[in-house]
Amino acid sequence: MTNKQIITIAGGGSTYTPGIIQAVLKNAESLPVKEIRLYDNDSERNQDMFLIIELLLKKEGHGRVKLTVTEDPRVAFSGCDFIFSQIRVGGLKMREQDEKIPLRHGLVGQETCGLGGFAYGMRSMAGLLEIVGYVQEFAPEAWLLNYTNPESIVSEAIRRQYPLIKMINACDMTISLEETMAVNYGYDRNNWVATYYGLNHFGWYTEIYDKSLGRDIMPELIEKLNKQEMNVADFNEGDVSWQEAFNMLSVMTKDFPTQIPNNYLEYYLYGDMIVEKADRDYTRANMVMAGREKNTKEMAQKIRCGVTDDVLNFNFGEHGQYIVDMATSILNDEHRRFMLLVPNHGAIPNLRPDAVVEVPAYVGATGVEPISLRGPINDFHKGLMEAQVAAEKLLVDAYFEGSYQKALQAFTLNQTVPNVRVAKKVLDEMITANHGYWPALS
Ligand code: NAD
Ligand code: G6P
Ligand code: MN
Repeated sequence: MTNKQIITIAGGGSTYTPGIIQAVLKNAESLPVKEIRLYDNDSERNQDMFLIIELLLKKEGHGRVKLTVTEDPRVAFSGCDFIFSQIRVGGLKMREQDEKIPLRHGLVGQETCGLGGFAYGMRSMAGLLEIVGYVQEFAPEAWLLNYTNPESIVSEAIRRQYPLIKMINACDMTISLEETMAVNYGYDRNNWVATYYGLNHFGWYTEIYDKSLGRDIMPELIEKLNKQEMNVADFNEGDVSWQEAFNMLSVMTKDFPTQIPNNYLEYYLYGDMIVEKADRDYTRANMVMAGREKNTKEMAQKIRCGVTDDVLNFNFGEHGQYIVDMATSILNDEHRRFMLLVPNHGAIPNLRPDAVVEVPAYVGATGVEPISLRGPINDFHKGLMEAQVAAEKLLVDAYFEGSYQKALQAFTLNQTVPNVRVAKKVLDEMITANHGYWPALS
């Protein structure tokens, strides 16, 4: 019998917490839990989530699981077994700035890509390094499973400061993309063995082997994408901006029909179209504030007023399941396959070994075992990735060294940016907007 586990959610007040806890409870046999701790530095959000999760535990018959809510890192992390991290430093209000500032200069404004992603990266590194420091101090044996964005940048920062920490950095996009393709085109994703390489939100599939059919189905998936755009499935069902993102996937496979790209490449390869379509006054952050965030606050408010019937309203499908699958794979030494962010170390043979890359990996009791590609990647992808890796490394240098010059180089090298003058303008505005969040740059 596996010991009952203590799971701490860092960023407990996150809109994704209910979906993750739902997945934890659904997998109680392979991931038995005795305590769930919600840790957040915003007590109001954390208390709201406490009410929601307390009711969820009761409704799902897990009333005996202890639920702790705290803003004290010692209470949150001491003796815990797993930490699921999903903090958003600066909240959705700062995400709005990340999106709107570049857009005002005619550049892509996005949470994890382009200069918005770099601004978020500068805030996020500090927050996540703090969490990792607490884990090191209070729960050095625990596994830290991280969703906090922007994943490539924060992974690079953690790799530098805490190279030995028991941490897995993951993104749900590949699983969500695979689920969406399977649902739209009539496959069962459980039969798939997917091979993929890239950086976070910046990669390509090379093969999708279907075990039940005994062949690589990527060519036929590309044909289908070219003929018929996909409808959004999984937890983003019905979401207009995700629908647009998936429509762009078909645009990409028509122009480059040899591999299936990560949908986020739209921001680098079709930035002009993205900027043209964007509403500079109402961006994705506004939609999420008016949607997921409002919905979470309303749920908590209803529970506070004594409503308990038909009040829980969320579904984060694969997102919650994916992180729970990682935990069970460690706990039960299952060696399941995930796409994970790891130091390259030859996995992509012709890319610099110190890049943080996203590749398939098996996960077991001793951690992550990445898989090396069978051969070198092509020059188109290599060129795009090398520029992106260098830009991200310069940004992380800028963070640790407090260097304005390195930040300017990072901003200039970002492939959504056409020249130094605009890079500098956006950087200077970002420095002002992020006062108190970024380290001082000189
Ligand atoms: P959110 O703002 O709803 O929740 C984040 C929570 O983190 C908030 O309650 C906030 O108070 C808390 N927080 C911020 N800084 C903190 C700190 N220093 N210490 C402790 N708590 C802190 O955001 P969200 O939309 O739920 O997203 C959460 C995170 O998950 C973001 O980083 C987002 O980009 C990321 N995300 C990643 C993936 C992925 O595939 N990797 C998928 C979805 C979301
Ligand atoms: C996907 C990506 C995440 C990203 C999220 C944004 O899940 O993998 O990295 O944070 O989408 O979704 P949102 O609904 O907040 O725009
Ligand atoms: Mn992601």
